[in-house]
Amino acid sequence: GKVAVLMGGRSAEREVSLMSGQGVLQALRGAGVDAHPFDPAQQPLCELARQGFARAFIALHGRWGEDGTVQGALELLGIPYTGSGVQACAVAIDKTLTKRLWQAEGLPTPAWRRVDSAAATRAALQALGAPMIVKPAREGSTIGLTKVTAPDQCEAAYRLAAQHDLEVLCEQFIAGDEVTCAVLGSGASARALPLIRIVAPGGDYDYHAKYFSDDTRYLIPSGLPAEEEATIQALVLRAYRTLGCRGWARADIMVDAATRQPYLLEINTAPGMTSHSLVPMAARAAGIDYPTLCLQLLAQATL
Ligand code: DAL
Ligand code: MG
Repeated sequence: GKVAVLMGGRSAEREVSLMSGQGVLQALRGAGVDAHPFDPAQQPLCELARQGFARAFIALHGRWGEDGTVQGALELLGIPYTGSGVQACAVAIDKTLTKRLWQAEGLPTPAWRRVDSAAATRAALQALGAPMIVKPAREGSTIGLTKVTAPDQCEAAYRLAAQHDLEVLCEQFIAGDEVTCAVLGSGASARALPLIRIVAPGGDYDYHAKYFSDDTRYLIPSGLPAEEEATIQALVLRAYRTLGCRGWARADIMVDAATRQPYLLEINTAPGMTSHSLVPMAARAAGIDYPTLCLQLLAQATL
């Protein structure tokens, strides 16, 4: 039957989602799937049922796409969809909720505070120490994020984050290796792909470095010692299961340069699928090319 590639949407990551969606659409069509683009910002999701779509590939990022809302609508419409269900998406989109669950399971994540003012942000800097990351709790692609090193930067950092979400998170910055780990599959058959280590020019893996820079270096193999890589993969699988993810996801991690302790930052339940994105890169290293990855994810679409 017909497959809808959900792309665009109305989050701040709309532009990224359009790039992800284009990639997925082309790959599915190339493999003979009757795939069509569908932008929930342009027509209501109930149109999916009316237009006879049998399945949906979710290439939406951020709110109203990666946060359980679209998943809930698809549940009600009875249209199987790729990736995690309502509950896992709703938890994973919220970095503070995610961290609470991981901490309850004893999984390592950087120390953090939730703040509701510039003054509280300055107090967080005192408590957590510099540098500190200030970011919206529910946003992606480093949008609205500031690395703060001094108290006089707190006000602007808080204001920027608060433009994107009422809930703002301060997090201790872990200096060390930035790595990412994709997971494919569900339940007992979920497996972690090889790690990618990210080396951004100037050290900041920001929105530009993520999608538009050809200077960002992606190391795969990661160059981490094999046992360290295996430890991180096992940690990521626990983090994935703790949130109840299914289908696929990508966890972002910092490894402390001094102690080599890995810290979980977040899990993306609808990771980027752009030409610069990391899950396709990790899949390729595991022998799964981009079209095969798209077909595998689609084959796992469920309600
Ligand atoms: N939030 C972006 C799309 C990612 O994690 O890949
Ligand atoms: Mg993210």
